[in-house]
Amino acid sequence: MKKIHLIAAARPNFMKIAPLFHELVERPGLTPVIVHTGQHYDLNMSDVFFKDFNLPDPHIHLGVGSGSHAQQTGNVMIAYEKILLKEKPDLVIVVGDVNSTVAATLAAVKLGITTAHLEAGLRSFDRTMPEEINRIVTDSIADYLWTPSPDGDQNLLNEGIHKEKITRVGNIMIDSLEMLRSTIENMDVPKKFNRKKGSYGLITLHRPSNVDNPETLEKLCKLLKMISLKLPLIFPVHPRTLARLLKTGNMSLLEGGGTITLTTPLGYTEFMNLVMGSRLLITDSGGVQEESTYLGIPCLTLRSNTERPVTVTQGTNRLCSPDTLSDMVGLALAGNFSRGTRPDLWDGRTAKRVADCIERLNL
Ligand code: UD1
Ligand code: UDP
Repeated sequence: MKKIHLIAAARPNFMKIAPLFHELVERPGLTPVIVHTGQHYDLNMSDVFFKDFNLPDPHIHLGVGSGSHAQQTGNVMIAYEKILLKEKPDLVIVVGDVNSTVAATLAAVKLGITTAHLEAGLRSFDRTMPEEINRIVTDSIADYLWTPSPDGDQNLLNEGIHKEKITRVGNIMIDSLEMLRSTIENMDVPKKFNRKKGSYGLITLHRPSNVDNPETLEKLCKLLKMISLKLPLIFPVHPRTLARLLKTGNMSLLEGGGTITLTTPLGYTEFMNLVMGSRLLITDSGGVQEESTYLGIPCLTLRSNTERPVTVTQGTNRLCSPDTLSDMVGLALAGNFSRGTRPDLWDGRTAKRVADCIERLNL
């Protein structure tokens, strides 16, 4: 039996390992083991996804929690190295671009354990983003690089990575969505918030560049309030953002008037039901840019760059600044927005392609 560690840490990781876990348990000779680093730990940032995706409790939990970048990365490395020495997995699979992704990769590669990165090759070319540093380091040392789109392959080749390490497998987030589509479609989450399908916009915001600077946050809150007078908004608030809104007193700019519905972070099926029923999305999330492109829903991304350029060139994603957001909302509401096309290999079969790759490895 080949033991395969799947590293999960933060919200966007759980939906990436879920389809892969379910695929790997079906493959004879392969045993997937879920390792949760504990980077995200609130019920609605972690546990809820294990229920949604019918995953077993993590087989191994490192319990590292929050901290500065160095603390969090270092704590995962120290805790995971001990596990690696004891468990000796045949393959470690890391996903995405969070601090735990790079930390687990560093720990595993230095012990000579074969390591693969799922969602490799994405680049924003913005090194002020912590995720960009995590992506560059992870991709430069991992043994196998599984990419979601052609730009990923090209970025890796441009960095001098040997083409034999790279396989385009497609976008695993679409597997997650297709896996739970019927459950999602049978829900009516807008009703819970006294809204009807197609009558609201949905917001997610958590990037340090948007929420950590009090002036930027204040500007965004005022802008969202103004937009909500034209289109009611639902806003599941990420814990980083909640902390900043409360600390700066900007929460009061969003509350009142009943045009912005604030809620805790939502489980995956609840959230995706809200996505499917929304007129438009306002976000800085990586995953939401992809989900909206797949579903053909206008997505206004409050960032000056994206590591997921196919969502702009092919999909429904548009980059915005606080200065352009209002006009872009106007365009979307006027129906002046391309429906886009689905990128190649965003088809719900990525986990199968990854499992096929693993079976071909000489582990
Ligand atoms: C992290 C990832 C980011 C990803 C995001 C997804 C890094 C550098 N950042 O950002 O790439 O897009 O997750 O959501 O890895 N907190 C809680 N409860 C939790 C988790 C966090 O209250 O369950 C609070 C803590 O105050 C913590 C803060 O949120 O300090 C930030 O958490 P952290 O994991 O460091 O970064 P995120 O902003 O969540
Ligand atoms: N998501 C969710 N509940 C929420 C907000 C988001 O289930 O309240 C899901 C959604 O599928 C999204 C994914 O979590 O694509 C990742 O979200 P996040 O923005 O936290 O991470 P990022 O993709 O930016 O790293």
